[in-house]
Amino acid sequence: MADSLEPASFWTQANALLRKNLTFQKRNIKTNIRLISFPFILCLLLVLIQALVNNELDKPENKCGCRTFDQNGDGVEEKVCGLEYSDLDQGTWCAIRNPPEWPPLLQVPAQEYRAVESDVMQYADFPYESCRTTGSCPVTLLFTGNNQSLGEILIGNMFTSSASATLNSSDVLVALALNVSGSHSMPQTSNFLDPAFYSDLPIYNLQRQCTQDPTFSVPIQINSFERQQEIRCAQGLPLWRNSSAEINNVLYKGYRKGNPERKINEILGAYDFSNTNANNFNVSIWYNSTFKNDTGNVPIGLLRVPRSVNLASNAYLEFLKGPGTKIQFEFVKEMPKPENQLRLDFSSILGTLFFTWVVIQLFPVILTSLVYEKQQRLRIMMKMHGLGDGPYWLISYAYFLVVSLVYMLCFVVFGSLVGLKFFTLNDYSIQFVFYLIYVNLQIALAFLAAAMFSNVKTATVIGYICVFGTGLLGGFLFQFFVEDTSFPRGWIIVLELYPGFSLYRGLYEFAQYSFNGNYLGTDGMKWSNLSDGKNGMKEVMIIMVVEWLLLLFVAYYVDQIASSGNRKSPLYFLQNLRKKKRSASMRVPSLQKQGSNKVLVDMEKPDVIQEREKVEQLLLEPNTSHAIVCDNLKKVYPGKDGNPDKFAVKGLSLSLPRGECFGMLGPNGAGKTSFINMMIGLTKPSAGAAFVQGLDIQNHMDEIYTSMGPALGDPYRKGTSLILWQTQESQRSRLDTSEFFIRLQAVEESLKSVNLYNGGVGDKQAGKYSGGMKRRLSVAISLIGDPKVVYMDEPSTGLDPASRNSLWTVVKKAKKERAIILTTHSMEEAEVLCDRLGIFVDGSLQCIGNPKELKARYGGSYVFTMTTSSGHEQEVESLVRRLSPSANKIYHLSGTQKFELPKHEVRIADVFQAVQNAKSRFTVFAWGLADTTLEDVFIKVARGAQAFNVLS
Ligand SMILES: *[C@@H]1O[C@H](CO)[C@@H](O)[C@H](O)[C@H]1NC(C)=O
Ligand SMILES: *[C@@H]1O[C@H](CO)[C@@H](O)[C@H](O)[C@H]1NC(C)=O
Ligand SMILES: *[C@@H]1O[C@H](CO)[C@@H](O)[C@H](O)[C@H]1NC(C)=O
Ligand SMILES: *[C@@H]1O[C@H](CO)[C@@H](O)[C@H](O)[C@H]1NC(C)=O
Ligand SMILES: *[C@@H]1O[C@H](CO)[C@@H](O)[C@H](O)[C@H]1NC(C)=O
Repeated sequence: MADSLEPASFWTQANALLRKNLTFQKRNIKTNIRLISFPFILCLLLVLIQALVNNELDKPENKCGCRTFDQNGDGVEEKVCGLEYSDLDQGTWCAIRNPPEWPPLLQVPAQEYRAVESDVMQYADFPYESCRTTGSCPVTLLFTGNNQSLGEILIGNMFTSSASATLNSSDVLVALALNVSGSHSMPQTSNFLDPAFYSDLPIYNLQRQCTQDPTFSVPIQINSFERQQEIRCAQGLPLWRNSSAEINNVLYKGYRKGNPERKINEILGAYDFSNTNANNFNVSIWYNSTFKNDTGNVPIGLLRVPRSVNLASNAYLEFLKGPGTKIQFEFVKEMPKPENQLRLDFSSILGTLFFTWVVIQLFPVILTSLVYEKQQRLRIMMKMHGLGDGPYWLISYAYFLVVSLVYMLCFVVFGSLVGLKFFTLNDYSIQFVFYLIYVNLQIALAFLAAAMFSNVKTATVIGYICVFGTGLLGGFLFQFFVEDTSFPRGWIIVLELYPGFSLYRGLYEFAQYSFNGNYLGTDGMKWSNLSDGKNGMKEVMIIMVVEWLLLLFVAYYVDQIASSGNRKSPLYFLQNLRKKKRSASMRVPSLQKQGSNKVLVDMEKPDVIQEREKVEQLLLEPNTSHAIVCDNLKKVYPGKDGNPDKFAVKGLSLSLPRGECFGMLGPNGAGKTSFINMMIGLTKPSAGAAFVQGLDIQNHMDEIYTSMGPALGDPYRKGTSLILWQTQESQRSRLDTSEFFIRLQAVEESLKSVNLYNGGVGDKQAGKYSGGMKRRLSVAISLIGDPKVVYMDEPSTGLDPASRNSLWTVVKKAKKERAIILTTHSMEEAEVLCDRLGIFVDGSLQCIGNPKELKARYGGSYVFTMTTSSGHEQEVESLVRRLSPSANKIYHLSGTQKFELPKHEVRIADVFQAVQNAKSRFTVFAWGLADTTLEDVFIKVARGAQAFNVLS
């Protein structure tokens, strides 16, 4: 029998649990298919949208123009694309091997927006507002510095005083570069085509004073087009200000936003020459950055700043070296570029939100699965059958990890196969590492969250709310913060501590890189990109790894406290330490039960008191000949909503030697199930102690489980029973059920012992067993591994007599080397199976003893029944009174009467005599005389106890 106390090897346990999970998965194949198809459907949806978008983008204006003709005269037509076959729209997509050169321009305010004197800008040196109607407003330029006369010299050097004749030359663009030119067109992202030269807006030629013919047109050649470019003179008006603070003040007032349209006052720019002198050149330049035209965080325009810097340096050079000295700033020019096409990758735009949903979807799945095991108390059942915490964690974790990885693999492979750029452009190794870290974190989180739920439905609902909430919050709040460069980075990291957001951030980064990669025709994220300034991938990975380790630890800890039915207090590890210190000294507990129990003891019956004394005696003996010893065990359920506390078990003392079957009788709600739940570790006693095989149930439950086998009642009737795992979604076969219970090698023997092994019941599913077979199976399971202590909660309720008999045979055979505690409502069963009985009413034992003793003690009477016509009832009663003066009528219904006759007053022979006489006088339909049954005892004891309780 030594092997029964020895836990099964790690690999046996792992193997069994794994098979249990796989079977569960196999039975849930429909749910699994639904789960896996979710990412597929989303990917297909994206592909469809992408196809529609591409169709739109493939229109001719979105790519470089082409023409089909015989290019090299060999008679074969080929398609040739290029700038020369494109119109202006198409031109931007063409390959540009030799980008055009553009004269550097200033960002000159448009005529109607130039600053004028008004009630907003109350400066006398500004032009009058009337210039707006004549279209002759000058372009204002502010300057300051430590030396005003020097500042005036420098500003003066910037503008020529009259129109340069060279403007009319053949090479207009070079001429414009030599003059001070500007445009009010909005700049673009690239300089392949300067909008100033094809947007039909004039080019301004800035001069000190405009001559009488300020506007003329010149022909300009762009690619294959020639167009007329209007060139207009604009007067530059430099104004001195005393300090840079004053300049700021003026510029601020000029800002367009917030002003009604007519009050716009744009200013070309400003220079602060500061401490510039002959030895030292120091200048600050103001430019209007609004022309960058930010949309989101993507600047659309290249600012026209270089020319204003060049102007300042030229002016200084001229001041030092004399007139004519110049650094020529001739042109700006883009680098050559290959042909590209307008491409929008939808998987990158929508992907972040969709894929967050896809990945996070596993969370409720894992959570539900864990909570299910908890709700159905499968976990504790497995523990009772010897499954250690280590293997449980390891296997469950590994199992969920494999499931998650397979799921992610399907997702990425499928996404790649349908060609989503999100997957194909980013480095697969980064994706792998990222998803690996995340799914680990997610599993740890699910383990932790599972400790907080006890109901599968709640867990499912909350889980899915988390899924959708996280996606939406990520997409519409978190992403906004990430893109807002002014949002403190520290807060983003704080937000990313929530795993859903770190997932979102990671996917967002993938999306950004794949979007840009696709747009620019390059690759997505590479390992080298992790150090990019804006790339949050590295921080997200670090956060997730740290969080994973932390959560894993916390989850294991919380699980230790919570999962196994509240048996451990939050500081259980401290207890372990303390316990170790004194474990050598004594196991005997609860010396605290002195005074307060006296009252209770006084009310008790002598047999109960005797049992209590026996228990106290046993506790003083160090060796444990008794399998179960309960010492004053109590269970109180705290009252809710103002109800008083409910005392389910009020100080139960009981001792059970090995080889005894103890029957616990009692009306419903007496506390029998509460008692058994305490003994098998589902709930924790409120006070008192109990020892199973000498081990305290409060601290050594794990060891006790190896010597215990509970067989609980009908799976549907009481919340406690899990024995058959018979749920709608999982109908395991008999062998599956048994495999799950860890002691594989003992299964066969155990099944044989309940006659289930042979006889064609072979591979039936447990759910398809008949009631009797199920019950025998549950008894078989409780006997697996040869436990020393077995609890049976109403094992034969609802069985037909034949099944019940075969069950009894099994129990009788099994009780030889074991201690069995059995609760039942069947007196017959109690009489057949039990060596001793206790009647349990209202949380305490009313009497205890073997069935014969009890009958003798409580049943000192015969029951006499007689049925006559109702006319003779009176005669029957007087007949009984004559036989036994203190007879007691216990039942009366239309001619049938039942009397209790004290045994010491009647002799059976007299009764027969009296009945013979009666029969001669009137018709007796039926009569009977019976000894008291256990049932009578039970009713009497239960009534007595309840009456007592009502009185008190
Ligand atoms: C201001 O600059 C002019 C021109 O260089 C110079 O002659 C003059 O001395 C400077 N004044 C001061 C106060 O430095
Ligand atoms: C430019 O040349 C055209 C003729 O080629 C002439 O009519 C025009 O007046 C000239 N403009 C300037 C500003 O010299
Ligand atoms: C600049 O300072 C001078 C003298 O300090 C003063 O006369 C003048 O009014 C100031 N100009 C402005 C625009 O404040
Ligand atoms: C800068 O440019 C914006 C946009 O064109 C304009 O609204 C604003 O008034 C300008 N500010 C100044 C000081 O010119
Ligand atoms: C900024 O650029 C967008 C798109 O190119 C354009 O629609 C918008 O008008 C521009 N904003 C300004 C102030 O010009």
